[in-house]
Amino acid sequence: MIRVLSVFGTRPEAIKMAPLLKKLEEEPSIESIVCVTAQHREMLDQVLEVFQLEPDFDLNIMKERQSLVDVTVNALKGLSPLLMETKPDIVLVQGDTTTTFAGALAAFYQKIPVGHIEAGLRTNDRYSPFPEEINRRIVGVLATLHFAPTRRNKENLLKEHVIGKVYVTGNTVIDALKYTVQEHYVFKNEVLRDIDFSDGRYILLTSHRRENLGKPLENICKAVKRIVEEFEDVKVIYPVHMNPEVRRIVFPMLGNVEKVILIDPIDVIDMHNLMARCYLVMTDSGGLQEEAPALGKPVVVLRKETERPEAIEAGVAVLGGVEEEKIFEVTKRILNDKRVYRSMAKAVNPFGDGKASERIVKAILHEFDLSGPPEEFIN
Ligand code: UD1
Ligand code: UDP
Repeated sequence: MIRVLSVFGTRPEAIKMAPLLKKLEEEPSIESIVCVTAQHREMLDQVLEVFQLEPDFDLNIMKERQSLVDVTVNALKGLSPLLMETKPDIVLVQGDTTTTFAGALAAFYQKIPVGHIEAGLRTNDRYSPFPEEINRRIVGVLATLHFAPTRRNKENLLKEHVIGKVYVTGNTVIDALKYTVQEHYVFKNEVLRDIDFSDGRYILLTSHRRENLGKPLENICKAVKRIVEEFEDVKVIYPVHMNPEVRRIVFPMLGNVEKVILIDPIDVIDMHNLMARCYLVMTDSGGLQEEAPALGKPVVVLRKETERPEAIEAGVAVLGGVEEEKIFEVTKRILNDKRVYRSMAKAVNPFGDGKASERIVKAILHEFDLSGPPEEFIN
């Protein structure tokens, strides 16, 4: 038996690990164990509940307004004895959060091989996204197996001469969509349940990135206010992140704006079905940039750059930047011009075909000489 320990801590990691955990559990030669750092609490628990995941270990480290040092130190301290006790053959981490970084480092310190899911995304800007760009680079140095979603991600890793094997698998977030999107769906969130999505054009908005906290997020709020004022039929739904630094800005700026609906974070089934029913997505989220193209929804990326250029090259996402005027103009063009909208609203899958988890499991088995290699995801 190969003992696989998966370590994660935030909402997006949990969503992207969930379909893989299901596949690991199905594999007879793998013993799958799970440790959550709980870098996020409520937002992580929402995902665990939806996918009915019961972690074997829960480090419960989240504190209000935690610093990067708090998360790193507490995750490392919690993981170290746990690795000694459980002695996994391989540790899996996902993405680029502080939990990802601490999980990979803790495993490396005990010479346990690390598998990095969602490897090789790069902006080449040290501070954007911060600290994620450097987290994922460090994990690239520490990892033995690199599961790159796309060929471009693989090329990024090869340019850095990472040690170990690189597999192109697709992104597991596309696998997650198979579990969530339903044609006739009744929302759990009461506000969403009461909405008639045919009575206008609904924009789904999210923003939480650290580098956007402060002025950029204020600019986003100002642009959104102008958009709903300019277009009578346009409404905005914004599930606001739990981070107090986000809420401190968003609620005073958008709380009383007509046609802007602010709600608490919704669970991922509500989220994916909401995305499937909205007209357009405006976001600085990594996950939403990947999910929206699969659901045929155009994306305005609320950032200066992106490590996910595949969607822009496919013509389904545009960079909106973080200045009020540019965000307003870019969005206005999509809302005004039906031809532009139609060219962007096509379902494409540059990030995965829903089989990433299968490929990752096969690659792990291959590493332990129990299978041939998986076929590459080709986009
Ligand atoms: C983290 C990740 C980021 C990821 C994001 C996903 C790092 C450095 N950043 O950022 O890459 O995109 O998660 O959402 O790892 N909070 C709660 N309840 C929750 C979650 C958060 O109250 O369930 C509050 C807490 O006050 C916490 C704060 O939000 O201190 C910030 O959380 P943290 O995980 O440190 O940073 P994020 O901005 O969420
Ligand atoms: N998401 C969710 N509920 C919300 C907002 C987002 O389930 O209220 C999901 C979203 O569909 C995606 C993931 O959370 O799968 C993205 O998480 P987030 O934006 O927090 O982090 P990022 O992807 O930017 O790291």
